[in-house]
Amino acid sequence: MTHGDGIFIHDDEGRAFLDAGAGLWCASLGYSNKRLAAVAAEAMSTLGYYQIFRHASHGPAIDLCEKLLSIAPVPMSKVLLQCSGSEANDSAVKLVWYYWHAQGRPEKRKIISRAGSYHGSTCVAISLTAKADYHAGFGLPFDGFLYTNALNYYRDAQPGETEQEFSTRLSDALEAQILHEGPETVAAFWADPVQGSAGALPPPAGYFEKIQAVLRKYDILLVADEVICGFGRTGNVWGCQTYDIKPDMITCAKALSAAMQPISAVLLNERIFQAVIAQSEKLGAFVHGYTHAGHPVAASVALETLKIYDEIDIIGHIGSVAPVFLETLGALRDHPLVGDFSGVGLIGGLELVKDKGTRENYPASVGLGARLDAHARNNGLILRIVGNRIAFSPPLIITHEEVVELGRRMRQTLDDTYREIRAL
Ligand SMILES: Cc1ncc(COP(=O)(O)O)c(C=O)c1O
Repeated sequence: MTHGDGIFIHDDEGRAFLDAGAGLWCASLGYSNKRLAAVAAEAMSTLGYYQIFRHASHGPAIDLCEKLLSIAPVPMSKVLLQCSGSEANDSAVKLVWYYWHAQGRPEKRKIISRAGSYHGSTCVAISLTAKADYHAGFGLPFDGFLYTNALNYYRDAQPGETEQEFSTRLSDALEAQILHEGPETVAAFWADPVQGSAGALPPPAGYFEKIQAVLRKYDILLVADEVICGFGRTGNVWGCQTYDIKPDMITCAKALSAAMQPISAVLLNERIFQAVIAQSEKLGAFVHGYTHAGHPVAASVALETLKIYDEIDIIGHIGSVAPVFLETLGALRDHPLVGDFSGVGLIGGLELVKDKGTRENYPASVGLGARLDAHARNNGLILRIVGNRIAFSPPLIITHEEVVELGRRMRQTLDDTYREIRAL
């Protein structure tokens, strides 16, 4: 790729693509931004680096933390700046363990996440990630990382089961798993409000309400991974607001800086913070950090990004464009290759099938994903294909007209692919 222009990305053969995935769910303001470039240059000329260790800090890091606390979906006490979503989740796992050590309960250590969720690629973040193909050959996951059911209502609900009943079955299964493991050994539950890498799966109705009741019952911390949902993606600033999730910690990244700088954050509540303070006083220090954490250039760009979101009323914009987005892509349900579509805000998940009635998939030998991908590129479209699902997460600044164009290119891609498969 050579350059960007709004939501379009250009390659070295002169082709322009509408990227329906905003890169990796992250290029929220598109692919170029002179205002953010100017802020980065200014930051480099003023204070191009300083660390945030040993009681040192600097304006951009402090201001960014204050800003994040002011917009947090639930009262949060402190922010730990990091460099990526993986690092944020990694650090949050350490904080969970540190917390339970501080409580005198070091045996409360196991962490439960959901099948299909992706939480990053560092050794711990990939252990949180319930994807066997990401573990193969690495001797991972680490012990003590457990997985509970995925939440694909279309695929996994029983005949006649409502979304609420499906959610009850999932929360009952979680409770049974906690009891089986021993609640005194389970430290935290990890969830992304919408499961992005499972193919953009919104939770079924009632899911988070029921899950949170189980977690409260057994004194298990809740960490919300807002790496893809944070900063507007679901139609509110946070996915936690969309689904009434009340986490103890939040991890966020990606749209935090419109993906123009590598930066992430962990927000932690007072309960965790007090334990960190008590434990650090006992041990002498809270020994954790990275050279580039809270980097002044990245923090300045993130702060400016949040300012831009406010100025352009990104939440209002998403509120107005999301219904068109969901309707335009939802209209593809009539296509013979499409079994289901669901979405929220500017997230859409489309389920591909061979047979709408039986929900059977094409065998892998057909190479449906690769064919779709090739036709999409011919049609000037970049798709994120995950197994038998396509995850849509366009830049947040996408306009009504661009959404319609996205729908047009997508239908053309489905038509081209279907024609090719039928001729096999
Ligand atoms: C939900 C979620 N969490 C964490 C991560 C990891 O973030 P990063 O790639 O910045 O390390 C991702 C990346 O896609 C993600 O989708």
